[in-house]
Amino acid sequence: LLIVILGIALGVGLYRSSETFKTTFMNRCEKFEGSDCEKIWTAFEQAYLGKDPCEVPMEAYDPLIAAAPFEPACNRMMFWSKTKDVAHEFTAKKHCFTTLEDTLLGSVLNDLTWCGKEGSGETFTSGCPRWNDCDNNTVRSFWNRVSAAFAEVACGDTTVMLNGSIATPFSLYSIFGSIEVKRFNPEKMRSLNVVLVTQQERNTTNCTNLSLKDLQKELREGIKYNCKEVSESQIQECSSNPETPCGACW
Ligand code: APR
Repeated sequence: LLIVILGIALGVGLYRSSETFKTTFMNRCEKFEGSDCEKIWTAFEQAYLGKDPCEVPMEAYDPLIAAAPFEPACNRMMFWSKTKDVAHEFTAKKHCFTTLEDTLLGSVLNDLTWCGKEGSGETFTSGCPRWNDCDNNTVRSFWNRVSAAFAEVACGDTTVMLNGSIATPFSLYSIFGSIEVKRFNPEKMRSLNVVLVTQQERNTTNCTNLSLKDLQKELREGIKYNCKEVSESQIQECSSNPETPCGACW
């Protein structure tokens, strides 16, 4: 009897967690007016349902991108690497910049975990592979695919916040280095402006850092490159003051 009760409890638990996942997805999606969230959900699910969660290539999300295409926000697009918190705190307050996580697909799935299972039609939120467990895992392939799509439409003057407190602010193995930079299109993008976020107290990297030379090498001809060291406190001060125009932040 105990086993039956535990079995039912587990079943109900799993069912509830996948229901909560869809609810979160739909609630976040509906904040974006005029989007057909049921259609987007269906396109999302088909990428991983019934599949081994380590065998979901990034192309599996192509129909999702087609269902919710990225609209370019020229001169306002912000990329980031190892600066998740400072970049998002900034764009949450200053709407003149947009990160992937401020767009529909990025915000809907931000900080969530999901996967399917062979022979099952359900979405699971636990027992899924972690980021480095396998290359083609459900979550990692999603972020690779949406990052590629976001970078492909990047236009005008764009910004990237890099971490000036670490030895290699630009890494060829990050999503920014391996996926996004490679898709920047010089016919659309005028410049990439590095904001190197520094910490005043620590001895930090500056714009002469060798890894930033790698970044410049990666950029296709025609895309201008700039770099500026900006302290984290200056960024926070600027974003918490509604009067300060974005152009005066650095
Ligand atoms: N384990 C778990 N999560 C990871 C790992 C890992 N080893 N590596 C990356 N991630 C996830 C985390 O959610 C992390 O916050 O990717 C996020 C970004 O990782 P970073 O190394 O900080 O940066 P990067 O890989 O360059 O990705 C950020 O990609 O999502 C796009 O447009 C976005 O420009 C941004 C870039």
